[in-house]
Formats: sequence, C-alpha cells, structure tokens
Amino acid sequence: MNELTAGQIREAADYISARMKEKPEVGLIMGSGLGILGDYINDAVTIAYRDIPHFPVSTVEGHAGELMIGTFAGRPVVLMRGRFHMYEGYGPELTSFPVRVMKAIGVNKLVVTNAAGGINTGYEPGNLMLISDHINLTGRSPLVGPNDSQLGLRFPDMSEAYSRRLRELARQTADKQGFSLREGVYIGVLGPSYETPAEIRMMRIMGADAVGMSTVAEVIAARHSGIEVLGISCISNMAAGILDQPLSHDEVMETTERVKSKFLGLIQGVVPLL
Ligand code: HPA
Repeated sequence: MNELTAGQIREAADYISARMKEKPEVGLIMGSGLGILGDYINDAVTIAYRDIPHFPVSTVEGHAGELMIGTFAGRPVVLMRGRFHMYEGYGPELTSFPVRVMKAIGVNKLVVTNAAGGINTGYEPGNLMLISDHINLTGRSPLVGPNDSQLGLRFPDMSEAYSRRLRELARQTADKQGFSLREGVYIGVLGPSYETPAEIRMMRIMGADAVGMSTVAEVIAARHSGIEVLGISCISNMAAGILDQPLSHDEVMETTERVKSKFLGLIQGVVPLL
C-alpha cells in the first residue's frame, strides 16, 4: 500500500519550508528533457528528492531528481526537476505526493508539462499543445482509499481540470511571442511500452489529441487540493501507427531538446501572469 497521510505530507513540507527563503506561489513540473528551466531560477535553494522525508526518487533518463525553490520570471516558484511515473512502480498517491507537498508549502497554481505523442494527425512533432482536458486511461487514481477531508473533497469536481483562465493567458503569451499553441485533450496511460496502432485509433475515436505516461495523477491530486492547473504538452513524436517508423525515447528527447527555448520562453512569459 502506498497510502500517504497528512502527517507525511506535513513532514516533507516542514523539511522544505525550513530551507526555503520565500514561499512559492507557483509550482512547476517539467517533463522529459524540459528540466532546463532550472537554469533560469534565481536565488535557488536546491533540495535532492532523496533528502526529503517520504519523497520518492525518480529513475527515468532525462529526469534530474531535485526540487528547486527560488524566483522564476519574477515569481516565487518551486520547480520539480524530474517527476514520478506510475510505470516506475509508484502508485498514484506517491506519483502525486509532490503536488500535495507543494500545496502544503503555499502553492496554489501549478504548471505541468510533458512530452506526448501526437494522436491528432494535424499535429507535428515540435508543436506545443495547451491541454484543454484529459482522459484518465491509467485505471488508477490518487484519491482511492479513505478521504482526508483536510486535503480535499471525497468527490472533487473535474469539469474544469485545466483552468480556462490560465489557458487564455497561455494563448495570449504565445500570440505575443509570435506562435500559436495547439489545444487538445491529453490521454494519460500507464506505459511504459508505447501504444499499439490499434490503441491509438481507439484513443482518437475517444477524443484524444495527444498521449502520454504522466500528468493525470498529478492533476487529479492538484484539483483535489484546490490548485489551479495549466498543462502544456510538447508533441515529441507522432503516436504509433501514424508514421511508418518505430517510436523511441531518443526521438522524444531529440524533439524536446529542439523546442526547449520556445517552450522556455512560453513558460517565462506566462508565469508572471498567473
Ligand atoms: N506515447 C506515450 N507517451 C509518450 C509518447 C507516446 O507516443 N511520446 C512521449 N510520451
């Protein structure tokens, strides 16, 4: 059992709070290859995940494994450099534990990013997609088990999981920077194998535009905690069966590397507005 208690969240939050200089308002969770944002945090206090009580440690290539608390684009933020995935063997509660801890140290807005496969055939690798909504196809939820009413409601509303207001701010920012964002539905899967072409056809019929192995558990926990969410996917590859070529993690990393400055500019532009 992975069940995490309010006490464990408190212990992790106290450990971090004792070391940070300023209370962060915005949480940032960066996906594969997008940890570069850490280089732009000023006056950062960096804390390795392994030093934080009850924190899991990430194992996937391209994810660093540290929390940075400092100022980004003029705002006090906390950045997760590297995140946890259910395919690593963590339950949904542990995967989203950092979101609970962020809330406990003062965060009320969260920017989540990820690399995702494009299901919408109008998309191209390198596109940035504003997540308008998600489909949780993992079959798991961080809210299963007894509900702690100090953390949130038993049956939280998910009708605006990805804030309309924050999406508008992201659109305006991209506009000002001279590019447009795609906007679509992210479907979250367990992984770690990529999907089959038949699964991708099914997901397209279900209304998904992009697929990935992260984000949904974190966003469910964030909404349960009352945190407002902005989600952005980097379309790192076309999903299985669309192009006549196999998928690889190398392709995912190459694409995120290629668009990282555009991506960084977008985050830098939008964070002060949140
Ligand atoms: N499928 C699932 N997860 C992903 C993909 C994909 O095609 N690309 C990046 N993450």
